[in-house]
Amino acid sequence: MVIFGVTGDLARRKLMPAIYDLANRGLLPAGFALVGFARRDWADEDFAGIVHDAVRTHARTPFREDVWRELAKGFRFVQGTFDDDDAFARLSAALTALDEERGTDGNHAFYLSVPPDSFPVVCDQLKRSELAKPRDGRWRRVVIEKPFGHDLDSAQKLNAVVNSVFPEQSVFRIDHYLGKETVQNILALRFANQLFDPVWSAHYIDHVQITMAEDIGLGGRAGYYDGIGAARDVIQNHLLQLLALVAMEEPVSFAPAELQSEKIKVLSATRNILPLEENSARGQYGAGWQGNEKVCGLLEEEGFAKDSTTETYAAIALEVDTRRWAGVPFYLRTGKRLGRRVTEIALVFKRAPHLPFDSTMTTELGQNALVIRVQPDEGVTLRFGSKVPGSSMEVRDVNMDFSYGEAFTVSSPEAYERLILDMLLGEPSLFPVNAEVELSWQILDPVLQAWAKKGRPETYESGTWGPHSADEMMARTGRSWRRP
Ligand code: BG6
Repeated sequence: MVIFGVTGDLARRKLMPAIYDLANRGLLPAGFALVGFARRDWADEDFAGIVHDAVRTHARTPFREDVWRELAKGFRFVQGTFDDDDAFARLSAALTALDEERGTDGNHAFYLSVPPDSFPVVCDQLKRSELAKPRDGRWRRVVIEKPFGHDLDSAQKLNAVVNSVFPEQSVFRIDHYLGKETVQNILALRFANQLFDPVWSAHYIDHVQITMAEDIGLGGRAGYYDGIGAARDVIQNHLLQLLALVAMEEPVSFAPAELQSEKIKVLSATRNILPLEENSARGQYGAGWQGNEKVCGLLEEEGFAKDSTTETYAAIALEVDTRRWAGVPFYLRTGKRLGRRVTEIALVFKRAPHLPFDSTMTTELGQNALVIRVQPDEGVTLRFGSKVPGSSMEVRDVNMDFSYGEAFTVSSPEAYERLILDMLLGEPSLFPVNAEVELSWQILDPVLQAWAKKGRPETYESGTWGPHSADEMMARTGRSWRRP
C-alpha cells in the first residue's frame, strides 16, 4: 500500500495506527508492505520512526514489539514531488523490489491522502508510469479521501479524472462514517428485527433529526476548512450517507451492488424543503466558553481570513419523496464548538392520536423517539412515556437503553481499520460510489448557492447549540431540536 501525502495529519492520526492495529489483530498478509511518498528528505528508517510514533500515540491495540518489528520490515519511503517523473520511476522500482523481497502478491493500493487538486497530477503520473495498470492478474486500487469536489460540477470533473485512470470498481472513496460500527448497525437494527419496520414510515414518524455536533474548534485546520465550511465538510458526505441508510428500502441482499442501488434510489428521491431561506440555517462560532475554557471565535483562529464567511454550523431540511417517507422532514445539522460532541439519529414519532389522561398529568410527556447513538456512548435509546410511581396517573418520559459497552465485550475496530481492510479485500460495500457522491452534491448545491448570496453567516457563541436561525427554522414548523 502506497500512501501519497504520508506526512499529513490523516496518515499520522488514522492510517498508520489502523495499519498497525490490523497487523496486531493478524489481519494483514505476511508480505504486506507500506510505502510512504512525500517531499521530505527521509530515509526508510526516518519513515519507520514516524510510523512508530504515530502508532504509539494513536493505535487502539496494545503495542507488541514482535508485531511491530515484522511490520516495519516492509516500510519504504520514496522522496519526491507529484510532478517529478523520476520519483514515480523510483516508486515503481521500490514496488518491484518489495514484491520480490517481501514475497508480496504484487497487488498495489494507492492511497491519495492529498488535497483533491492534487488528484489529477497523481492519477496522471500513476497512469504514465504504468503503476495503475494491473499486471499478471494482480489488482491496482486507488483510495481517495473527501472532499470529492466542492460542488456537483467539480465532483464530476474529479470523478472523470480518477475514472480515466482507474475503473470505478478499483476506486474506493472513503467516508469514514460508514466504517463505524454504529453506522453499520443501522442496517442490522432495521432489517434483522421485526419490531421496527412497521413503524418506520410516515404513518408513525413525525420527523427525523440527524445531528453531528462537535465541541472542537478549527484551530490548525484553516488550510482545509476556510472556504469549505460545515455543509461541504460533513453534510455532503457523512450526514447524507446516514440519511440514506435510515431511509432506504431493504436491499435484495447485502451484495455491494444491491446496497448501493438502494442508497442511490433514496438519494435520488431526496429534495430540499422550500423555500431554502426558511429551511436552512448557517452560523459561525464566536468566542465563548467550552467547558471551563475560554475559547476564541473562528475569525481569531490562526490562518482564517479576518472576514471569512465560512460556516462552522449548518442545518438543512430535506424530504424523501417516496411512498414510505412522503411528508416526513429530515433535519440534518452539524457544527463545531457546540455544547458537546455527539452524533445521533433520532426518529421522532407522531403524538398518540388521543391521550386518555388529564392534561395536567402529562406535562412531562413528549413524543416517542428512537435514538441511534452513533457516538460517543454508542447505543440505541427508546424514549416513551411511563407512569410515575404514586397514587395518581402521572405520565412522563423515560428511556430504555442499549449500550454497546454493556452488551458486548469486544471493542469496535476504528473506522479506518475496517475500511482499509475492506479495501485490501476488495470489498466495496462501505465505500460510496460515484453516483452517490454526485447525487449528494445535487442535493446540497442549491443550498450553497442560496447561502452564497446571503453574505455573512450568523455568529453563535461557542459552547452553545448554534445560531438562533436554526432554532427558528424548527420553531416555524412547531418542532424543536433535541438537546442531546
Ligand atoms: C471529518 C471532518 O470528516 O470528520 C472533520 O472533516 C470532523 O471536520 C470529523 O471533525 C469528525 O469525525 P469523527 O469520527 O470524530 O466524528
